[in-house]
Amino acid sequence: MVVSLNLHILCLLFSSSLLINAQIVEIPVANLSTTWINSPLESLNSSNWGGLRTVLLRGSFGPRFVCGFLCQFRNGACFFTVSIFQTRTGVNPPFIESLEAVWTANRNTPVKINATLQLSQDGDLILRDADGTYVWSTNTTGMSVSGLNLTEEGNLVLFSRNNAVVWQSFDHPTDSLLPGQRMVSGQKLRATESALNLSEGLLSLAYKNDGLVAYVDSNPPQIYYQSLSIVNSAIYMNGSFAEFNFAPVSSSQFIRFETDGHLRVYEWGGSSWKQVSDLLLYLDACDYPFVCGNYGICSNGQCSCPGADDTTNLFRQVDGRQPNLGCTAITPISCNSSESQSFLEIKDLYYFAYRFSIDLNNTDMETCKQACLKNCSCKLALFRYNSNASSGDCVLLSDVFSIIDNKRMYYNYNTSALFKVQNTTKDSSTISPKNRTNQVAIIVGSTLGAVFGVSLTLTGICRWVSRTQTYKPQPETSTDIRKPNGKPIGRDKRISSPSLPLFFITVLRSN
Ligand SMILES: *[C@@H]1O[C@H](CO)[C@@H](O)[C@H](O)[C@H]1NC(C)=O
Ligand SMILES: *[C@@H]1O[C@H](CO)[C@@H](O)[C@H](O)[C@H]1NC(C)=O
Ligand SMILES: *[C@@H]1O[C@H](CO)[C@@H](O)[C@H](O)[C@H]1NC(C)=O
Ligand SMILES: *[C@@H]1O[C@H](CO)[C@@H](O)[C@H](O)[C@H]1NC(C)=O
Ligand SMILES: *[C@@H]1O[C@H](CO)[C@@H](O)[C@H](O)[C@H]1NC(C)=O
Ligand SMILES: *[C@@H]1O[C@H](CO)[C@@H](O)[C@H](O)[C@H]1NC(C)=O
Ligand SMILES: *[C@@H]1O[C@H](CO)[C@@H](O)[C@H](O)[C@H]1NC(C)=O
Ligand SMILES: *[C@@H]1O[C@H](CO)[C@@H](O)[C@H](O)[C@H]1NC(C)=O
Ligand SMILES: *[C@@H]1O[C@H](CO)[C@@H](O)[C@H](O)[C@H]1NC(C)=O
Ligand SMILES: *[C@@H]1O[C@H](CO)[C@@H](O)[C@H](O)[C@H]1NC(C)=O
Ligand SMILES: *[C@@H]1O[C@H](CO)[C@@H](O)[C@H](O)[C@H]1NC(C)=O
Ligand SMILES: *[C@@H]1O[C@H](CO)[C@@H](O)[C@H](O)[C@H]1NC(C)=O
Repeated sequence: MVVSLNLHILCLLFSSSLLINAQIVEIPVANLSTTWINSPLESLNSSNWGGLRTVLLRGSFGPRFVCGFLCQFRNGACFFTVSIFQTRTGVNPPFIESLEAVWTANRNTPVKINATLQLSQDGDLILRDADGTYVWSTNTTGMSVSGLNLTEEGNLVLFSRNNAVVWQSFDHPTDSLLPGQRMVSGQKLRATESALNLSEGLLSLAYKNDGLVAYVDSNPPQIYYQSLSIVNSAIYMNGSFAEFNFAPVSSSQFIRFETDGHLRVYEWGGSSWKQVSDLLLYLDACDYPFVCGNYGICSNGQCSCPGADDTTNLFRQVDGRQPNLGCTAITPISCNSSESQSFLEIKDLYYFAYRFSIDLNNTDMETCKQACLKNCSCKLALFRYNSNASSGDCVLLSDVFSIIDNKRMYYNYNTSALFKVQNTTKDSSTISPKNRTNQVAIIVGSTLGAVFGVSLTLTGICRWVSRTQTYKPQPETSTDIRKPNGKPIGRDKRISSPSLPLFFITVLRSN
């Protein structure tokens, strides 16, 4: 089924004819009153990107840049991007290979085949979808734009008659930086939702006057990295960026803030992009917020659920085969019945937010607990102290990301994590935890049956296939665009997105 569906999607995407490999024809500058249509596409030798429609292309040797429409193979979603690419020696004529998007105009709003990009007579660069819907523009009407230039650095520039920069992609970074690019105060990089969903995810890396801050953009935000010293500028120079130093540029390089919260430097290694540095130096694998998903406990890179080693059975894995997708409460917390809420207390658990956001200090555990119980949105109360248990720190979380196992006292504190849990209702309170698990399995099973039996339209199947594919781990040999070094970047770290069973439970509930 999957194969035929892929063929179906392929047919939709490339209806015209067989694609030819993307050729290299250098066109680095465009004049006003030019329109490009997202068709026909040329093929890319990539497992993630299905096709490219070149708009501009610059570079005759070494790193080259192309801007144009880039379409995903799996779902036909297209993006207007600037990408860096390489050619292979000995391939004649050379074609575009090892392409990596470094800037994207319409991350959250993919367009389709036949979308248009227009450099209008009055100097605006406008992206519209196939049906004419406005998607994005540079808003440069009437600003004396005289043309569009893709520079040797990979900067897409709208310039005026006297060659001044009116608008440039370097001022609007998405998740990547190129040598020569600078972040100014207030700018941020935003990681993609997942390897395959290029929408903006929750992780941000912002530059403020005094340094870099990496955080989960939840409400309230949760910081997991902050520059230790004052950093006066964040320019990506040869061998340095902000407070980081790394191997100087020997071929082409870029920095990317990735789905898993790592900030990595990649360099062209002759046949593929190789990771040369993982920049957020003082962070350990377990200090990254999505490493084990929501509620997942990280111990030496291994993930488990709270209470997994006793028999409380209050949490279960979102996906039994992928522990890194996190955990979910078997009985969700209901604000309506806060009188029947209690806490599952687990000692020796640490949390990254302790470093930057204490809610109550000089306090004891009972006060911490009560503060969480009083606040409907609080899901986890964290308490730590050094020597005096009545003078500790308390953190209250309304979004629970990965938790750090501190049994080895990596962090020199006595700690307790207090998970707010819902007492089961009268009906199910007599059911043992084991039976409850079975019940969930039965609900999922029968829902699956019902959905397949009654309402599977072709679009439904397609959406289901693309969803499930999105959450499938990729083989290590995959040439997936988001992992240029050929190593999995921790798979899909976003766990608040629905996995297959949760998706179907949601369908059941909404009926
Ligand atoms: C843009 O305009 C200039 C001057 O009018 C002309 O020389 C050049 O060939 C044009 N470029 C393109 C790509 O049409
Ligand atoms: C695509 O890339 C692989 C390895 O990167 C190579 O073996 C294969 O020949 C390439 N395909 C084409 C059509 O060039
Ligand atoms: C794109 O437009 C062309 C010409 O109008 C049309 O023949 C083709 O079917 C369109 N393709 C898609 C996928 O809509
Ligand atoms: C252009 O203006 C629109 C409407 O004011 C705004 O939503 C959009 O973000 C602007 N685009 C850019 C690239 O600033
Ligand atoms: C385009 O950018 C290049 C630098 O990469 C510069 O040399 C060239 O003058 C620019 N062209 C225009 C028309 O601005
Ligand atoms: C991609 O992620 C965004 C943001 O989290 C979400 O709204 C969207 O539904 C996702 N798209 C797909 C195709 O899963
Ligand atoms: C970066 O520095 C190294 C040595 O420090 C030098 O070999 C290399 O050419 C420089 N690269 C660029 C792009 O300036
Ligand atoms: C909570 O109570 C409100 C009104 O009292 C009701 O509308 C809502 O459905 C209840 N929510 C749950 C989850 O029971
Ligand atoms: C139910 O909640 C109360 C606190 O409100 C707690 O004392 C009791 O132990 C809980 N019962 C169960 C079965 O967890
Ligand atoms: C503790 O709280 C006080 C008062 O809210 C505040 O001034 C102080 O900076 C806090 N100390 C720490 C270490 O967070
Ligand atoms: C409840 O907790 C959340 C998250 O910690 C916090 O933002 C909010 O202000 C709290 N609400 C009240 C009423 O204390
Ligand atoms: C522990 O902390 C509490 C609250 O700050 C304080 O009253 C008490 O004297 C401290 N005890 C010791 C032994 O320092």
